[in-house]
Amino acid sequence: MGEAGVVANNKFCRRPLLLVLVVVVVLVGSCCAEAAATAAADELISSKGGAGGGSSRTRRRRTRRRAAVAGPLMVPITVLKSAVDAGAVCMDGTPPAYHLDPGSGAGNNSWIVNLEGGGWCNNVRACQFRKTSRRGSSDLMEKEIPFGGIMSNSPVDNPDFYSWNRVKIRYCDGASFAGEGFDKENGFYFRGQRIWDATIRHLLSIGMASADKVLLTGCSAGGLAAILHCDEFRAFFPPTTTVKCLADAGLFLDAADVSGGRSLRSYYSDIVAMQGVAPNLPPACTARLDTTSCFFPQNVIDGINTPIFLLNAAYDVWQIQESLAPDGAVPSGAWRTCKSNRSACDASQLTFLQDFRDQMVASVKGFSGSRSNGLFINSCFAHCQSELPTTWSNAAGGSPAIQNKGIAKSVGDWYFGRAQVKAIDCRYPCDGTCRNII
Ligand SMILES: *[C@@H]1O[C@H](CO)[C@@H](O)[C@H](O)[C@H]1NC(C)=O
Ligand SMILES: *[C@@H]1O[C@H](CO)[C@@H](O)[C@H](O)[C@H]1NC(C)=O
Repeated sequence: MGEAGVVANNKFCRRPLLLVLVVVVVLVGSCCAEAAATAAADELISSKGGAGGGSSRTRRRRTRRRAAVAGPLMVPITVLKSAVDAGAVCMDGTPPAYHLDPGSGAGNNSWIVNLEGGGWCNNVRACQFRKTSRRGSSDLMEKEIPFGGIMSNSPVDNPDFYSWNRVKIRYCDGASFAGEGFDKENGFYFRGQRIWDATIRHLLSIGMASADKVLLTGCSAGGLAAILHCDEFRAFFPPTTTVKCLADAGLFLDAADVSGGRSLRSYYSDIVAMQGVAPNLPPACTARLDTTSCFFPQNVIDGINTPIFLLNAAYDVWQIQESLAPDGAVPSGAWRTCKSNRSACDASQLTFLQDFRDQMVASVKGFSGSRSNGLFINSCFAHCQSELPTTWSNAAGGSPAIQNKGIAKSVGDWYFGRAQVKAIDCRYPCDGTCRNII
């Protein structure tokens, strides 16, 4: 319930879950299953608990013939019991967990560490809900999850990273791996920072310490986590290791909502205060700004020393639905249809969305001046694009592109230094580069 990101993904892209049957391949349209698992924000800013539209979820059913298609790579869970001694526990006190698909061949000594996303919690009700879900307890997590897009082991879908060791660290703290505290009354452990630290140290101990290339990534709340922890990640490795970060859909803007309020700012303020995030925010930011501001990437990215790539849709559907036009901010309901169906937006609503896009572009102006940074801000209505085969890879019929270059190629060119990538799409509605989205 209440999975805003799931709603968004269902509406804005088609990601069939492939089931191979005897003759016909029946595609049961569990659109964006991977993104839903990683990206969905399960708590809404509006106080209407769980009214995130789970009930209005529409499932697409399609039937299609195809040559035999392999199912997605499923990767088993590892529960890290040893981390409990360090107090690194999920919200309910259970151990943290990760999924690792070992590298091979040329990628044997390279690692992707992917921080799972999935919203935040900002009050007792929301954290209570979270504590009793897979986002707050390793007891409730899936025993295996699909790895797609940048996490795929297919050289066709993922030519630059398929052979790497690929790890997904499960998200079960509620503050983008950055909280520290314990709420005795409610039994909430806020141990995101300890989970981050203990899990990275564990991965170092099982081989990552001698890596020659590493990439920290994550989507949505995990994208924000990758931004917040990027320089800390760098510090775990010797100078000889190539360390870079990729934040997918993590560029949450401190923007005015459609009523002129600051819905996301007040939500973030509650998260930071409740979960004890302040001491773990980048010091370069907290030295000059208040702590809530330092949970917003726009105030952090210019101070990151490690090369980092920002991949984001300028019309990020999570931000449109939950930050710009949350139900609480639009009592008239004028935005209800537009925010989930851009064809239904009127001219003034489109202007508002374009202005948001312009704010996002402005927020990366200084960032984009650094040679080592990368940027791909496309004008699609999307949220999380690196873990879906259809948006990541050209192999699946065409990733969203800017000047004909898709996402996997852009990220790979940047990581391996084959080209500078500072791609910003024209304003919607411009051309048709949003392939495989809608
Ligand atoms: C990967 O590297 C490790 C350590 O260097 C080695 O033990 C292992 O055999 C290698 N595996 C492959 C598939 O090359
Ligand atoms: C989106 O809005 C357009 C224009 O109002 C409408 O024709 C279309 O049916 C809507 N699509 C959905 C899925 O509701």
